[in-house]
Amino acid sequence: MKFFIDTADIREIEDLMTTGLVDGVTTNPTLIAKSGRRFLEVIADICRIVPGPVSAEVTATDYQTMIREGQKLASIAGNVIVKVPLTVDGLKACRTFSGMGIGVNVTLCFSAAQALLAAKSGATYVSPFVGRLDDQGYDGMALIEEIVNVYQNYTQLTTQILVASVRNPKHVVEAALLGADVGTLPPTVLKQMYHHPLTDKGLQAFLTDWSKTGQSIL
Ligand code: E4P
Repeated sequence: MKFFIDTADIREIEDLMTTGLVDGVTTNPTLIAKSGRRFLEVIADICRIVPGPVSAEVTATDYQTMIREGQKLASIAGNVIVKVPLTVDGLKACRTFSGMGIGVNVTLCFSAAQALLAAKSGATYVSPFVGRLDDQGYDGMALIEEIVNVYQNYTQLTTQILVASVRNPKHVVEAALLGADVGTLPPTVLKQMYHHPLTDKGLQAFLTDWSKTGQSIL
């Protein structure tokens, strides 16, 4: 399973890249607003740090403007993935970008029917939002299972399932059990994944016992 991080915070990205665990980055207009910086500059900075796919989302809602925006975003760097919303115009734009050889992430997916349309439109990634479904009392992971099952029936579909709106490590593990291709994790969730109280307790006991030996490895 590939791990993307869901942030536009350059410091966080630089820090997490040192772990060697980050395969790419996703952003959205909310995350860009939170960064307080110019959109195009943030994306250029992220692409300088991250060699993997970096999703940058169009903000237009009509096809023609989406195409112009997407081309501008794609011109920033070769690893930019243009993110479009799962709307009629968004999927038309997806098909056009795909034909131009530009990678596309179709975002705001909340049903298997939508995921099927995204795949047929040539999406590189489809982003089902598990956390937002859970927040509304639905089962976000059931949607991932459904999409995995649908896509498995058609081996010619190359669209990757990018699990988005991830809220906790359990979401990541459940998505991995289902065979989702990618999870985009808020930095806090990636950091949470390292921790287990028995690891802390065990390490403390080892260090205490080691200090009793009076030895040093170096
Ligand atoms: C990623 O591409 C999405 O924009 C993101 O995961 C949304 O997460 P949220 O529901 O926490 O805003």
